[in-house]
Amino acid sequence: MWSTTAIFKLFSSPNRKPDAAESHARTASSRARATDEPRLAPLLRSPAIACQAVEMTFQSGQQSFQALQGIDLEVKSGEVQLLMGPSGSGKTTLLSILGGLLTPTKGSVRLLGQEITSMSRIQLSRFRLQNIGFIFQKFNLFPALNASENVEVVLKMKGMESKQVKHQAQILLEEVGLADKAKCLPRDLSGGQQQRVAIARALAGRPKLIMADEPTAALDSHNGHAVIELLCELAKQEGCTVVMVTHDPRIMDVADQIAYLEDGILMRKH
Ligand SMILES: Nc1ncnc2c1ncn2[C@@H]1O[C@H](COP(=O)(O)OP(=O)(O)O)[C@@H](O)[C@H]1O
Ligand SMILES: [Mg+2]
Repeated sequence: MWSTTAIFKLFSSPNRKPDAAESHARTASSRARATDEPRLAPLLRSPAIACQAVEMTFQSGQQSFQALQGIDLEVKSGEVQLLMGPSGSGKTTLLSILGGLLTPTKGSVRLLGQEITSMSRIQLSRFRLQNIGFIFQKFNLFPALNASENVEVVLKMKGMESKQVKHQAQILLEEVGLADKAKCLPRDLSGGQQQRVAIARALAGRPKLIMADEPTAALDSHNGHAVIELLCELAKQEGCTVVMVTHDPRIMDVADQIAYLEDGILMRKH
């Protein structure tokens, strides 16, 4: 139910079984992919995210507070990076900077090879829309829109043709196991179901980067695990890079890298 294959259908034709010729072509292309893999590997492993000497100081009135100090971090394409650390250590601040939601006071942030700290606000919001999917602890769904419309709104913003939008939203909702909840408002869904809508929305348009801030914090263990499986499958199968803030120790097994923050300093990476 949580496989990511339907994500591939996003920009292809509607639900139908492949015929024999297509199956053959797919097998041949996956064989070709296997042969190409060693040649492409270095490209695929180039950093999707690279930040250097990042600092963040919050100013309120006369008071200033340094939330991040000298952060250096690289995440390779297709990898799952966890950010861990105690409450108030700067995890959300760092994730927001890596997602282009917050501009650091100092330092460089390169996403997909582009320096985002020198982009204008318009360039940056366009870059975010095209390349980054966000998942938050509190779901952040539009309360007046039903599940399908919450996904549709992102597909429309990304420029998808309107006649495709409803169908693609349905595929995404199927992907997260909510095909029968398309017409439900967020208030009529459980926390786990709302988070799955938020994931469908984050995946809309196949972003290359996913930023998730404690995505399982409000979910029971079954739903929490399903969320993690989906995100990790994406990272592996589609070269989608995931940065996730979490306190959940079970997730450590599926991560490629874990960074620990303490008082705004990156203490350990492994
Ligand atoms: N907008 C802000 N203005 C002032 N201080 C902030 C702001 N955002 C975060 N902080 C402070 O920065 C520190 C790190 O916050 P945060 O990144 O949210 O931590 P975490 O996600 O690890 O719990 C905290 O001390 C927090 O109070
Ligand atoms: Mg936080």
